[in-house]
Amino acid sequence: MIYMDNAASSPLRPEVLEAMLPYMRSVGNPSSIHRDGRSARRGVEGARRHVASLLNADPSEILFTSGGTEANNTALRGASGGRLITTSIEHESVLEPCRAQTRPVTYLKPDGSGTISPETLDESLSEPATLVSIMTANNEVGTIQDVRALAGICRRHGAIFHTDMVQAAGKIPVDVRSWGVDMASVSAHKIGGPMGVGALYVRAGTELEPLVLGGGQESGMRSGTENVAGIVGFGEACRLARAEMSRNVPYVSSLRDELVARLLEISHSVLNGHPASRLPGNAHLAFLGVSGEDLIIKLDENGIAASTGSACSVHTQKESHVLRAMGLPAETISSSLRLTLGPQNTAGEVAEVAEAMPRIVSELRSVSPLRGRYGF
Ligand SMILES: Cc1ncc(COP(=O)(O)O)c(C=O)c1O
Repeated sequence: MIYMDNAASSPLRPEVLEAMLPYMRSVGNPSSIHRDGRSARRGVEGARRHVASLLNADPSEILFTSGGTEANNTALRGASGGRLITTSIEHESVLEPCRAQTRPVTYLKPDGSGTISPETLDESLSEPATLVSIMTANNEVGTIQDVRALAGICRRHGAIFHTDMVQAAGKIPVDVRSWGVDMASVSAHKIGGPMGVGALYVRAGTELEPLVLGGGQESGMRSGTENVAGIVGFGEACRLARAEMSRNVPYVSSLRDELVARLLEISHSVLNGHPASRLPGNAHLAFLGVSGEDLIIKLDENGIAASTGSACSVHTQKESHVLRAMGLPAETISSSLRLTLGPQNTAGEVAEVAEAMPRIVSELRSVSPLRGRYGF
C-alpha cells in the first residue's frame, strides 16, 4: 500500500513504539509514590518537556488530553464569557463546541485560498469578544494562517486567542510564545505518535475551567489517570519532529511539489488551497467530471490510500464545509481529492501515484455523465 493519507493519521514511528513499550508493560500509576509510580511520573514529565519544546512553551503550560478533539473542546468550553469568534473552515471539533454555545458566535469567512485575513478579524473585533479560535493550518486544503498577526490583533483587543495546531505542530515550525498565542491544541497521531493522546497549551495566567472533573490530575485541569504510554509516545514523536524539522520540511515539500506538478498535467485539474502558504505534505486537487469518492475507491484498488478531506466527513457524507466556505463551485467540491504526504513517503511512491492517476481519472471520465460538458 502507498499511504498518502497522513493528515488523517500518520504511521506510528518505530522509535515511538520502542519508547512506549516499557510503559505499556509496567504497572506504575504516575500518582503513586512507590518506585513504579515514580517511573511513570518521570515518563509523563519527560514527555511534557518534549511537547513544550516543540511549541516553545514552558512544560507547566502543557495539559495532556485524549487528543486534539478534547483539547479543542477544553479550550472552547472552558473559557467563559462573552462573544466567541471562529472561522467557517475549522475542524468539527471546534465547530461543534461552538454550535453548542449559548453565547453569540461569529464565523469569519476565508478567501478563495482558505486564508483568513487579519483585517477581517480586526474588523470583527470592533465589537467586543472574549475568545477567538482560528486554526494554524487547515486539515483539508492545508492552507496556513498568519497566526502571529491574528494573535497580535487579539492581544490588542484583549481577547483570548486559541489556535488548533493539530495539523501544523511537528510539520512546520510553530512558536506559541513569540506568536503570542494563549491556547493551542495538538495531537500525537498526526506526527507519528499514537492515537488517543494530545495536549492543550495554556499560556500561564490564562483563565480556564476544566472539562473533566475527578482526581485532579494535570493540575486539576484534566482529571483521570494519565495515558502514560501514549503520553510517552507523544513526547518521543514531538522530540523526533523537532529534531528532523529542518530536513523534513524541504523533503516533504519537494515530494508534494513534484506530485502536484505531475497531477496538474491531467486536463481539467485544479489545485485547491493556497499555492504557497500550505502544509508541506498537502496536495488537494479537483479532477473535474469525476467524483472524489470514486477516485478514492479506484486508488484503493490500485494500492493507494487517499482521502477527500477530513475523516469526519465519512460519517456525515456531506459536502466539505471548508471548500464551500472558500466559495468553490459545486463541481470542484465533488471532484476533489486529498493526498497527504509524510516524511516516510518516497520519490518512487510519488512517481507511482503520478503514473496511476491519469489512467484512473480517464477510466472514470469515460463513464462520467459530465463527459459532454468538459469534452473529455
Ligand atoms: C485540524 C484538526 N483538528 C482536530 C483534529 C482532531 O484530533 P484528534 O483526532 O486527535 O481528536 C483533527 C484530526 O482529524 C484535525 O485535523
